[in-house]
Amino acid sequence: MKASLTWPALLNILLWITSTLGSTFPPNSWNGTEHQPGNAIPNQFIVEVENLNDIPSKRDFSSRDVHKNLYSHFRKRKIGFTVKKEFNNQQFFIGASITLDNPTDRKQIAAIPGVKAVRPVISVSIPKPVKIHVVTGFDDPELPPDTESTHILTGVDKLHAQNIIGTGVKIGVIDTGIDYTHPVLGGGIGPGHKIIGGFDFVGDNFTGSNTPVPDNDPLDQCNGHGTHVAGIIGANPGNEFNISGVAFGASLTSYRVFGCTGSTTDDILVEALLRGVSEGQDILTMSIGGCDGWTESSAAVVSSRISASGKIVTIAAGNDGGKGSFFTSSPGNAINSISVASTDNTVIPLQNLTVQGVQHDPITYFSTFPFPENRTLPIFATSTDTTVVDDACDPLPDNTPDLSNFLVIVKRGTCTFVQKLTNVAAKGGNVSIIYDNGTGFTAIDVGNFSATLIQQQDGVFLVNEFAQGANITVTFPQVGGSFQFPDVSGGLISSFTSVGPTNDMFFKPSIAAPGGNILSTLPVPLGSFGVESGTSMATPFIAGVSALIFGVKGNSAAVGLGARDLIETTAQMLASDHTDSGPLQSAALQGAGLVDAFTAIHTDIIVSPGEFLLNDTSNFKPLQTFTVKNTGTSNKSFKLSHVPAGTLLSLQPGTALFADSPPFSNASAGVTFSDTTFTVRPGQIQELTAHFSQPKGIDSSLLPIISGFIQITNTDNTTSESFHITYLGVASALKNVQVVDNTDTFFGVDLPALGAPDGPSNFTFVNGDNPFLLSRLDFGTPEFRLDLVDPDINITTTIPRSATKRSILANDKHVFERETFTFPEGSNGGGTFAQVKTLGPLFELDFIPRNSDVDDGTGFNAMAFVNVFANGTIVPNGTYRVLLRVLKVTGDPTNEDDFVSWLSDLITFQAPANTTNSSSR
Ligand SMILES: *[C@@H]1O[C@H](CO)[C@@H](O)[C@H](O)[C@H]1NC(C)=O
Ligand SMILES: *[C@@H]1O[C@H](CO)[C@@H](O)[C@H](O)[C@H]1NC(C)=O
Ligand SMILES: *[C@@H]1O[C@H](CO)[C@@H](O)[C@H](O)[C@H]1NC(C)=O
Ligand SMILES: *[C@@H]1O[C@H](CO)[C@@H](O)[C@H](O)[C@H]1NC(C)=O
Ligand SMILES: *[C@@H]1O[C@H](CO)[C@@H](O)[C@H](O)[C@H]1NC(C)=O
Ligand SMILES: *[C@@H]1O[C@H](CO)[C@@H](O)[C@H](O)[C@H]1NC(C)=O
Ligand SMILES: *[C@@H]1O[C@H](CO)[C@@H](O)[C@H](O)[C@H]1NC(C)=O
Repeated sequence: MKASLTWPALLNILLWITSTLGSTFPPNSWNGTEHQPGNAIPNQFIVEVENLNDIPSKRDFSSRDVHKNLYSHFRKRKIGFTVKKEFNNQQFFIGASITLDNPTDRKQIAAIPGVKAVRPVISVSIPKPVKIHVVTGFDDPELPPDTESTHILTGVDKLHAQNIIGTGVKIGVIDTGIDYTHPVLGGGIGPGHKIIGGFDFVGDNFTGSNTPVPDNDPLDQCNGHGTHVAGIIGANPGNEFNISGVAFGASLTSYRVFGCTGSTTDDILVEALLRGVSEGQDILTMSIGGCDGWTESSAAVVSSRISASGKIVTIAAGNDGGKGSFFTSSPGNAINSISVASTDNTVIPLQNLTVQGVQHDPITYFSTFPFPENRTLPIFATSTDTTVVDDACDPLPDNTPDLSNFLVIVKRGTCTFVQKLTNVAAKGGNVSIIYDNGTGFTAIDVGNFSATLIQQQDGVFLVNEFAQGANITVTFPQVGGSFQFPDVSGGLISSFTSVGPTNDMFFKPSIAAPGGNILSTLPVPLGSFGVESGTSMATPFIAGVSALIFGVKGNSAAVGLGARDLIETTAQMLASDHTDSGPLQSAALQGAGLVDAFTAIHTDIIVSPGEFLLNDTSNFKPLQTFTVKNTGTSNKSFKLSHVPAGTLLSLQPGTALFADSPPFSNASAGVTFSDTTFTVRPGQIQELTAHFSQPKGIDSSLLPIISGFIQITNTDNTTSESFHITYLGVASALKNVQVVDNTDTFFGVDLPALGAPDGPSNFTFVNGDNPFLLSRLDFGTPEFRLDLVDPDINITTTIPRSATKRSILANDKHVFERETFTFPEGSNGGGTFAQVKTLGPLFELDFIPRNSDVDDGTGFNAMAFVNVFANGTIVPNGTYRVLLRVLKVTGDPTNEDDFVSWLSDLITFQAPANTTNSSSR
């Protein structure tokens, strides 16, 4: 076995997307590469220490230099480490990002007095945008008549008409950098420009795993994500495409945390957040994250603290909507920050081609700008059968003519678009159209080929004409072919939006904004303009709205602290579909609804809070209080009502697997109010209570997410104003949710399993010959630990182990006499855990995300371990077992019953003499 334990290998896994897989993996899809849970980077940790000012009397940190003091503690304990980065922000975060020689030292570090937390460094990717089209700069005067449909949907157009544009507000954009040479973004950087400054923490060549090369210039002309984000906030109006940013009067600062490609690490995000706040940003925005479910990553914790100080932090909810609920992104899960979901735009700016030779309407094709094609082309269909399933998947027949002067028409299906186009190109074809199998438009990957998508009905028409030998040609008008295609899913939550809530029942996402099919700026060398989709595009929209709020109400901490409530209570509740019969969309997808910026800014009724967090059935919070404040000049009367949203059934019946697109149930929570009607006088604050009850007759084993709205409607007949508080809870006890996958569904072997790609269980620890624990988590866990134990151990585990015969080597007895370790610490020793003798932890992490059923790097965990313990002791050769213990969500870490446990088969350590730890980590 030559398992690669290096970080670059892990990166490869992150980029590995196998779309052909069904709901389970092919057996043995694990190839021996380490994959740490939740994208934790092996051996790297962020240590947080207490603020000196908080603990003036504490002996261990009495020195002014907290960092030196911390490292001297490491040395005293013989902990091998190197320092990557130091943090020294007295208000928000003091600590260091370090690499440990031995990851099990984490436990010792956590026990040093004054150490507040030790969190893994996490690899973070840009929420993968669905890139639709990069504009190549055709000068069409009739182009984009109204790409500002997003502004109309949210009232931003009306605020712009009042000259509310965010003037004087400072926004820090933490992203891939910005192309500030773009004329629409001001054409420069520095005081007096729109982009007032910035910093590049990483350099072009940074991939997430190599050494960053920081400099003062955040220019991005190679990636484009941050430039698209910046345009959504700040594009100047009056450009050839008639777009503008939500807060184009605001000043932007660019914090570049990604190189041209690859990912970044969350210690860099923490550094960027702290720099942003120290440089006086009113708002920080991050279109960044990866599926998590927990609120505890370093970047989430720091974002939340910055939000709690009265700044506004907006973060993407994530683009993992196809992976089910309880899977919103970190750092977007930051408790006090604003996590942003996406709605699809109501129109997609597309192009029409025209047909000659027969009478037919123009045909809409999937491109923002005209196809660069001047010729009048006859058509050629690779199959005249419009029901063919694998059109052009094989090389085209020998009798195919030279296709170089044809528009080639191919049906979608079976193989990749690139494979079809490669076969077409082999016959000379250089411009193709792929016809879809339905209506609507989605992004397709055509590689470097000149090809685009049309709808099914249009493709069938062209193929039938071709089959009948009609003399028909097609042209791509370079001017006048623009068409605002009405998107069938427009106005609804984008299907890619990650689904909440968090594992600890916080309300994520918080709010929705347009993020599907958004036209904005791209770096000049990449085409200057383009359409992209993602919660990445929705997040800067809310950063822009936040700037409009600060611009009108002033940038005080009080305004910042009230902003999320204001945005949530004035939002527009969204349906789950365009029929009249469907339920309202779950708050786990839409948050409080689609932002209504105009109402948020102009309302004189202030409702607080914006969210009721009902928690689960074991921690149910039925009684909720709220206030309605009248800051206006006349009496206002209201009535209260309950508007339930669809209850999401999270789990697939009869399994522990999350449903990819959870279905709705009709059952909903019940609510009673202290008063159902009330009047608030000017300056008065009305206090009210709502009392919730769990839905009746619902199958709690499906982990139903209940949500809805307490609507506060004005009854004065002079206005139609209404506000709402959104509630969210779950109609089961999270402690009952299965945490550890104990089936063979995914790999063809029962999980958890001790693994080695080549089978044998004798490990030399040389050249990567290390044992792996292969596991899947059906649900997140607050605590996950693996211990080496006596092969003769007598323990009752919750997951029964297979009855493998053991054969102990002679020399293994002394190991267990060294130390008696009881677990959990502080328990009274009633259960079998109390008698467990272990040598020590092999692996331990807190707040691990659940896995998905997709083999894209989130599907399973494979953790390698070494034969060295925390104190540097080499584990003597011998035969052992490993004991896995995993705490259930909301479980008590001192109660054995709240753990899932599993014991391995025998495992033999056979390190050659003088070998300590040859792991390449
Ligand atoms: C394991 O598979 C991943 C994804 O296909 C690949 O990137 C990686 O190089 C493989 N590792 C080994 C050791 O074969
Ligand atoms: C980035 O990498 C390329 C290719 O290795 C190299 O030529 C270039 O000098 C590097 N740039 C910087 C800024 O280090
Ligand atoms: C584009 O094509 C659609 C569908 O045929 C048609 O409804 C629309 O009017 C056309 N628009 C233009 C500008 O050609
Ligand atoms: C199309 O023709 C016009 C006029 O001859 C020319 O300016 C333009 O470059 C051509 N475009 C392409 C994509 O060939
Ligand atoms: C169209 O084809 C795609 C890709 O093969 C498939 O995922 C989708 O379900 C199909 N849609 C319809 C309506 O057949
Ligand atoms: C097909 O139509 C084109 C122009 O529309 C014409 O020049 C050509 O002669 C026609 N060919 C036949 C075979 O009718
Ligand atoms: C829900 O209850 C659990 C267990 O007490 C707690 O840890 C968690 O913070 C609660 N969630 C919220 C949003 O209050």
